[in-house]
Amino acid sequence: DKIVLAYSGGLDTSITIPWLKENYDADIIAVCVDVGQKEDWEAVEKKAIASGASKFYNPHVADVLAEEYIYPAISSNLKYQGTYLLGTALARPLIAKELVAVAHKEGATAICHGCTGKGNDQVRFETGIAAFDPEMKIVAPWRIWDIKSREDALKYAELKGVPVTSTIEKIYSEDENLMHISHEGGDIESPKNAVDYSSILNITNALENTPDEAEIVEITFEQGKATAVNGEELKPHEVLETLNAIAGKHGIGVLDWIEDRTIGMKSRGIYETPGATLLMEAHERLESLTLTKETIKLKQHLAVEFAELIYNGQWYSMASDSILAFMNHTQKTVTGDVKLKLYKGNMLPHGLKSEFALFDEDVSGFGEDDLFDHHDAEGYINVITLPTKIQKKLGLL
Ligand code: ARG
Ligand code: SIN
Repeated sequence: DKIVLAYSGGLDTSITIPWLKENYDADIIAVCVDVGQKEDWEAVEKKAIASGASKFYNPHVADVLAEEYIYPAISSNLKYQGTYLLGTALARPLIAKELVAVAHKEGATAICHGCTGKGNDQVRFETGIAAFDPEMKIVAPWRIWDIKSREDALKYAELKGVPVTSTIEKIYSEDENLMHISHEGGDIESPKNAVDYSSILNITNALENTPDEAEIVEITFEQGKATAVNGEELKPHEVLETLNAIAGKHGIGVLDWIEDRTIGMKSRGIYETPGATLLMEAHERLESLTLTKETIKLKQHLAVEFAELIYNGQWYSMASDSILAFMNHTQKTVTGDVKLKLYKGNMLPHGLKSEFALFDEDVSGFGEDDLFDHHDAEGYINVITLPTKIQKKLGLL
């Protein structure tokens, strides 16, 4: 028998390898999906094999993540609970797809993941896997074994000869990809605690460490998709890498909040999403110039639903596909250049232009124009004030 393991290179998924071998009598195929996290892949492979895996796969799909998962989220301006840009939630469905692909190639009958029973990721992985193979078995050790703490994990590692590579294994539960890094657990867990951002953040400067000079960045969009930064044409994953560096330097996209997990509990987390935060801000500004009022409103309504679907693991679903079709349709005229001035965590407008701008100098200006006369407002106001007048006459106001 073969089991595919979603492998991260960390302590938890490393001890999972001997545990699976012992409990399921199977060959373990470790799969570490590269979604843009910074890793030494050779070291990860070595560790997987040293921990007892019979084979290691390392699909590099950060470009797919950018183009097929992150860009649609940007076009849709998605923020779960009005706040979180869904960095982890967007990558899980792609990781699930890659896991199933390896499982099929290897003829494995089960996929194992290292998510806890309290989190969102178990839901996202398992719905994602089901979308590609409804028969695939799932093994979730954290819902089964007695390893409950870091100490337990270290003890088990020693017992089984699993190499523990870093002496100061991370104190937080972190998830990194091209879009973001999340930090949860440890002293972050309790909302009572004020934490020191400069020691937690990895790709974003804490505000006190940002440059004292502002920086102007120009992003070019074609039909809702960013195609160039500062005039240089880039692929989606390159756009995100470039913007991560620029926005990270200026402390943009740090979120410290309390979210409602799909499983029902509240959880405090800290997120760094520099590039995508900047990209979404630029995109929304361009839409304010190029989309009608009703279209913006419809997008906002559907974005609330879409963000919840993705957060809750329903990326692969009829509902998500349908919303995305609507979102894509709205992007036809979201083409133009957006300049933003970055300074100490702020993103200030610095010029916005589009060939499809619905803003008309003559109409919106204070002067005379051919389409709208100041007198036109009079009749309109007479009509909309009628119900007010009637209510007042009846003594209702
Ligand atoms: N709470 C965030 C989310 O649900 C981040 C989860 C991070 N996952 C992890 N395994 N560290 O999207
Ligand atoms: C986990 O519990 O495995 C990580 C956090 C989450 O999935 O929300």
